[in-house]
Amino acid sequence: MIGVPSVVVFSLVINVVVATRSYYKTNSMSLSELLNRNPPSSTPETWTGKYFPTPPPSHTPAPPPLHGGVPMGLNPNCDDAKTNLTVDWNSSPIVYTCFFPNKRIIPDFDIKPILEIEPVPKLYSAVHYCMNETIVYQNPIPTFGPHRPAWPRYGEYKYVPVQRWLHSLEHGGIVMLYHPCAHPLEVARLRRIVKSCLFRHVISPSPHLSTEMPLALVTWGKRLTMSTVNVDVVREFILQNALQGPEKISRDGQYDAELLKAAEIVSDTEDTDLCPEERIKALSLYW
Ligand SMILES: *[C@@H]1O[C@H](CO)[C@@H](O)[C@H](O)[C@H]1NC(C)=O
Ligand SMILES: *[C@@H]1O[C@H](CO)[C@@H](O)[C@H](O)[C@H]1NC(C)=O
Repeated sequence: MIGVPSVVVFSLVINVVVATRSYYKTNSMSLSELLNRNPPSSTPETWTGKYFPTPPPSHTPAPPPLHGGVPMGLNPNCDDAKTNLTVDWNSSPIVYTCFFPNKRIIPDFDIKPILEIEPVPKLYSAVHYCMNETIVYQNPIPTFGPHRPAWPRYGEYKYVPVQRWLHSLEHGGIVMLYHPCAHPLEVARLRRIVKSCLFRHVISPSPHLSTEMPLALVTWGKRLTMSTVNVDVVREFILQNALQGPEKISRDGQYDAELLKAAEIVSDTEDTDLCPEERIKALSLYW
């Protein structure tokens, strides 16, 4: 980013020099005559005369096309949410299988939840990549970044690739991830809270969580990892961070490979009432 402004300034200088030279060549006018013809009051914004040899570049470069020019949603030549899905996940059960089913991760109440914040620049526009290209991430559990044009239908999945669920974060959704060996009771508690809080949620196992922190909630720019579920912490995180993505889009997604259970409306289609009190109170029956 730092190099961009200096390049713009540099090319501006070059253009001014070229313009002046070519003007002298063809019209041999003095600089004062030139200034009289073009009084200083005529700023670049109001100037309507001719430029030599070409108009100077605009001071504010046009913003890059949104999402790299690839619109969201289904597109038969790019992402139909059916073709080339193996680019993101080869359907291997490795990503959702607990290989030590007799050694489920025991929640450790001494390990406090960790909230990580990645400040995403306001003007950042994530690029949409078609299914003819792979997308890799530096962090295996990213909180923002390029993703697929078609986003997941909300609900619980056998597994959703990160290239899909990142798009849900952009729309203000909550993504719940759990280690395949996370304790089923803790997974059930977290699932219940999330499903009682909002429609806009995606739930999936993830092989990238640690055994110390086998549970996670992710929103645009925020990652909460947990060893055990504290209902107040989870509710607070959802209240503060759900629906805060850069695009306020409540519409359901198009991708539904391995969808186990579609999300249900909690308050209304806009999730106006996040984590309704009576729904959360009713959960106390379960713990
Ligand atoms: C992938 O497909 C899109 C849409 O057809 C195209 O614009 C893009 O250039 C392709 N990318 C590669 C690497 O072929
Ligand atoms: C699927 O992937 C192949 C190989 O990269 C590519 O040629 C083709 O355009 C892709 N099709 C779609 C619909 O993305």
